[in-house]
Amino acid sequence: MTKPALDTRDDIRFFFGNEERRLRDIDPQMTVLNWLRLNERKTGTKEGCAEGDCGACTVILGEPDGMGSMRYRTVNACIQFMPTLDGKQLLTVEHLKPDDGSLHPVQQAMVETHGSQCGFCTPGFVMSLYQLWLDGGEDDRGAINDALAGNLCRCTGYGPIIEAARKAGGISATDPVEQKRRSDIATRLTAMIEGAGMLALEMPVGRYFAPRSSDELAALLVAHPDATVLAGGTDVGLWVTKMLKRIDPIIYIGDVADLKSVREKGGALTIGAGVTYSDAHAALGMIAGDVGELVRRIGSRQIRNAGTVGGNIANGSPIGDTPPALIALGARIVLRVGDIRREVALEDFFITYGKQDRAKGEFVESIIVPKPAAGVQFKAYKISKRFDQDITAVLAAFAIRIDGGKVVEFRAAFGGMAGTPMRAKKCEAALIGKDWNEASLSAAQLALSRDFAPMSDMRASKEYRMLVAQNLLTKLFIETTAPEIATRLVGREAAYV
Ligand SMILES: Cc1cc2nc3c(=O)[nH]c(=O)nc-3n(C[C@H](O)[C@H](O)[C@H](O)COP(=O)(O)OP(=O)(O)OC[C@H]3O[C@@H](n4cnc5c(N)ncnc54)[C@H](O)[C@@H]3O)c2cc1C
Ligand code: FES
Ligand code: FES
Repeated sequence: MTKPALDTRDDIRFFFGNEERRLRDIDPQMTVLNWLRLNERKTGTKEGCAEGDCGACTVILGEPDGMGSMRYRTVNACIQFMPTLDGKQLLTVEHLKPDDGSLHPVQQAMVETHGSQCGFCTPGFVMSLYQLWLDGGEDDRGAINDALAGNLCRCTGYGPIIEAARKAGGISATDPVEQKRRSDIATRLTAMIEGAGMLALEMPVGRYFAPRSSDELAALLVAHPDATVLAGGTDVGLWVTKMLKRIDPIIYIGDVADLKSVREKGGALTIGAGVTYSDAHAALGMIAGDVGELVRRIGSRQIRNAGTVGGNIANGSPIGDTPPALIALGARIVLRVGDIRREVALEDFFITYGKQDRAKGEFVESIIVPKPAAGVQFKAYKISKRFDQDITAVLAAFAIRIDGGKVVEFRAAFGGMAGTPMRAKKCEAALIGKDWNEASLSAAQLALSRDFAPMSDMRASKEYRMLVAQNLLTKLFIETTAPEIATRLVGREAAYV
């Protein structure tokens, strides 16, 4: 097996705005937010929740796009660790001000629409608006809501900020990361990293390795079987900021080039474990509109720009959003330890609450998602208290094929109903081979109550969970038998936004 790269380096290389930085002796667990505020005294970026929820800490990360320019994305600085900046460009609200001292159009629009009152949320909103502006602006209310869903404001009622988003979209201005500068930064970033060896920080406070290939990753995990794999950090970041854990060593997979692709082959998608939700979204939306819509509702744009589908599976959460949908689609995952790979059905990966079929040193390499066969209808429903940026109470995913009024294929998977994401096999058996009518629907609903004994927690009571799960079967029935009836808050076309 390929050995870990012998060449390593111990400095984090990135651009802070347009300034090249090389940092040594940084605690690998220091968050970008703490570095900005405590080390750099750049206090424009705020701390609200320190858990990725409020958006006050929103910054933009730029990465070479492989085509000679840069790609920019918002993330929550409060849950990103400093070494993950390696090879990237960090932009904060301080970088928006043009050299002539005027305001950037998104800032000017916020002033003109009274989009700022107490001001605490403002820098975060400005960064999300700036991202929208970089992407060409938006007039559509749904798209603006989507871009701002990860930013909370308790003062303005959001109306003026949405107005600012519309207003700024129409204004042209000199871009602080104008095209010419972008290609220069992309070239310099690539030169800083290429051939420079793997980032390996070995400090008394903790170790951090950032392999650049899956062979290096596999070898490192064999050498450090107790290491914590870090992908987007949207779970792991909170272990540090909320649980005050020390993690040692950390092996970061965000720089593993061959885990960052989505490939289509033989009627299935193969999604590398390092692929973020944002990068998997379009492809998953093409597999089934409802999977795309589900992904669009995961966390916020900042969370989707960092979090991965692989992390959503590997964390084993009973309320992760993608596993039930992927189980209903018949997804499989590739697990790898050293040079040995095995493929398991996703539903078999989840053994019981907190326990997955993953050995020490083994990692999720990819996820294989088959396209639904001809005639199969796929539906997924997320139930949460808020539409955006909320944790699921119950999630149902169904793949159903009806032929001549009979159910000939049916896979049903749920989240939030048991200690793991799970298929509802009694419910499936109650329907397969039966006429698809109200009597078989009732039988399937009754069978569901034998599949699961859900628990009560702060999100939902066990009675609510069961009732809503049964009602989602009714929704499936309506959508497959009377599609003219409106059943959705947001149209299916949103899946592709
Ligand atoms: C504000 C906020 C909102 C959220 N909203 C949602 C939501 O709506 N729906 C939802 O489902 N989740 C949500 N989450 C949870 C989280 O975003 C997801 O679970 C996400 O998919 C985790 O992926 P990650 O790449 O960030 O994983 P990380 O945090 O990097 O890792 C998560 C776990 O998986 C392990 N791991 C990661 N990759 C691998 C791998 N390749 N092999 C082996 N182990 C691995 C890590 O060691 C860790 O144990 C939210 C989180 C936050 C902070
Ligand atoms: S401080 Fe709230 S999202 Fe980062
Ligand atoms: S202006 Fe006060 S929180 Fe938004």
